[in-house]
Amino acid sequence: MSEGRQNGQPQRKGNGAAPDSATKDTGLRPDDEAASAPVAAISEAEARDELARLAAAIAVADTAYHGHDAPEISDAEYDALKGRNAEIEARFPALKRADSPSERVGVAPAEGFGKIRHTRRMLSLSNAFEPGEVAEFDSRIRRYLGLDADTPLRYTAEPKIDGLSLSLRYEGGKLIHAATRGDGETGEDVTANARTIADIPQTLPDAPALLEVRGEVYMRHADFQALNARAAETGGRTFANPRNAAAGSLRQLDPEITRRRPLAFFAYGWGALSAPLAETQMQALERLATLGFTINPLTRLCDGPDAMLDHYRDIEAKRADLGYDIDGVVYKVDDLALQERLGFRSTTPRWALAHKFPAELAWTVLEGIDIQVGRTGALSPVARLRPVNVGGVLVSNATLHNEDYIAGRDSRGEPIRGGRDIRIGDRVQVYRAGDVIPKIADVDISARPADAQPYTFPETCPECGSPAVREPGDSVRRCTGGLICPAQQVERLKHFVSRAAFDIEGLGTKQIEAFFADDQLPIRQPADIFDLAKRDAVNLTKLKNRMGWGETSAANLFRAIDTRRTIPLHRFLFALGIRHVGENAAQLLARHFGSYSALHACLTGPADAALAELTDINGIGPVMAQSLIDAFANPAEREAIDALAAHLTIQDTERPQTEGSAIAGQTLVFTGTLTRMTRAEAKARAEAMGAKVAGSVSAKTDLLVAGEGAGSKATKAEALGVKVIDEDAWLALIGA
Ligand code: IVH
Repeated sequence: MSEGRQNGQPQRKGNGAAPDSATKDTGLRPDDEAASAPVAAISEAEARDELARLAAAIAVADTAYHGHDAPEISDAEYDALKGRNAEIEARFPALKRADSPSERVGVAPAEGFGKIRHTRRMLSLSNAFEPGEVAEFDSRIRRYLGLDADTPLRYTAEPKIDGLSLSLRYEGGKLIHAATRGDGETGEDVTANARTIADIPQTLPDAPALLEVRGEVYMRHADFQALNARAAETGGRTFANPRNAAAGSLRQLDPEITRRRPLAFFAYGWGALSAPLAETQMQALERLATLGFTINPLTRLCDGPDAMLDHYRDIEAKRADLGYDIDGVVYKVDDLALQERLGFRSTTPRWALAHKFPAELAWTVLEGIDIQVGRTGALSPVARLRPVNVGGVLVSNATLHNEDYIAGRDSRGEPIRGGRDIRIGDRVQVYRAGDVIPKIADVDISARPADAQPYTFPETCPECGSPAVREPGDSVRRCTGGLICPAQQVERLKHFVSRAAFDIEGLGTKQIEAFFADDQLPIRQPADIFDLAKRDAVNLTKLKNRMGWGETSAANLFRAIDTRRTIPLHRFLFALGIRHVGENAAQLLARHFGSYSALHACLTGPADAALAELTDINGIGPVMAQSLIDAFANPAEREAIDALAAHLTIQDTERPQTEGSAIAGQTLVFTGTLTRMTRAEAKARAEAMGAKVAGSVSAKTDLLVAGEGAGSKATKAEALGVKVIDEDAWLALIGA
């Protein structure tokens, strides 16, 4: 993560929690196939959906990490989310969201602290993971500066400290204030706390009149362990890792608490200055050291990628003995005049690179293989592991992907892992990175027990006994039980109540599992939810008698359910959980049909006509169309859908007024400030008139609407020959 997220994490959901329902909640999502599809293979609609999901997931992770000092996913997972987001944005620049995570750093300052606006923004670093990326970094810089391969170009290389960044402002040699990074523009005022840190001088002899020093606050391992031991004894809060402890200690409203926490500080840079510190990065660091700051002793000057990689390996070898956490090496162009020329991208300097250490690996024993059945019937093998600490997280289960993966072959039948299969009892290598789910990366067959048998993948569903079949070309085996399969039923219900679907307050995964297993008040299909809330006295009494439900919570639940009796068509469609029909597809369908009755008539009419009409919709392919038709043709499914619809008022969707619309089918981008309508309203109007609204200008853009203060997008549009209009012309265009 941008502030150097630590691998050590609190135990994550699903890693070892005792399963207590029909489908065991491992936190793995068997049906989430799109998330791992190569970016080159995804459609525009999938990309848009995934960007939305990524933006939400990254925002949640940012808040947990920066806002609450309690990360919920590991650094590697976070980096993977950001990497995937960047990859999709690079392939579909027009889909870049207004709230794109690639344009953000951290989160806004927390309540309770004063706010300090940084005079120079506190940014993040771009990441590299492979040695080859270091040479690419050097070439990129040379290209940008117009330097040939023979011109000497030096870099500093220093450890990337895993703490949190802090900006210290000195005026006339006196510490005036200290601020956390916050969202990069505005940080939290932690001056009183910073004054308690021994490494931070209160006064500087011989400093420039204005000097902002930037660096990392961190906690040494020994201090972290002692702090946690004390907290455990006194029943206080313990921290998952030193970074969280450092952040939690610095971001204290009571400086006396910070004083008792042993924090340390390495200076690595600066912000605003009244006079330059030096001509090079290295000399500037030395100057900071002379002024009284601690700079990292492993900082070296390197004359190119080979020397940088040598130093990286050296630091990596010393990592375990440093006594504090680092998560990589930072390279910076040494010549400050060149840094100035290179400047910044939106959130990262061009002149620096964070070369992260690889994800953590660990070996453990595969104690069993469970088969999870997902919402669409996919059978996913889950490794049950002897719990093992992988970079600070206790991992007790991991994905084994599919039956081919266990057997040691890929989807084309080619050998993987040298063709070695995985058997229960084997020693396996667990890998956490790049994905939200731990994986089994390898197997040590030299340690294989003599009686270990090749794993036989079930050909019937372990939950309902229906045949589990594998369609040609599909790597996944699926339960054919549909709604008679309890696992599929409960997973569908969880999907049904999820945020983007019916979003019923008070009815989450846990409650669904409890109701599903309940004989008194069962919820087995979506319609049962609305039956439950009929407010009859019997249900109310039954609910009140159940553990955990009181008068108020029961009434609240009924109210929350009632508010969803009216639902927009697209949400209803998405909530059905029909395979391949994601949020975006649901929107497309809703806009095309306008009403549920029109859609229903199409799907229950002749199948070939339905297929023709559906595949005619831009963004709906034959696979999705068939999946919809099949769902409505299946008697059990149809009955469940009809029973649900009978409880609801399904709101019509305004269909795009493409007739007479000057912008139907066009791709629009909005930039600058619109004075007579909000951006959201403008977007909705454009979409209602059949246009697509994109976040950034590309060759595919048809029209740029430039409000007040339009900047780089307008310049880019002009360069690309894209038509640009102002707000008045926009209003005229939409007839407002
Ligand atoms: S230089 C423009 N040097 O890493 C940003 N950052 O991912 C210049 N960090 O927010 C930052 N050690 O908190 C720099 N030696 C180092 C660092 C370092 C840790 C952190 C810093 C920054 C984050 C970026």
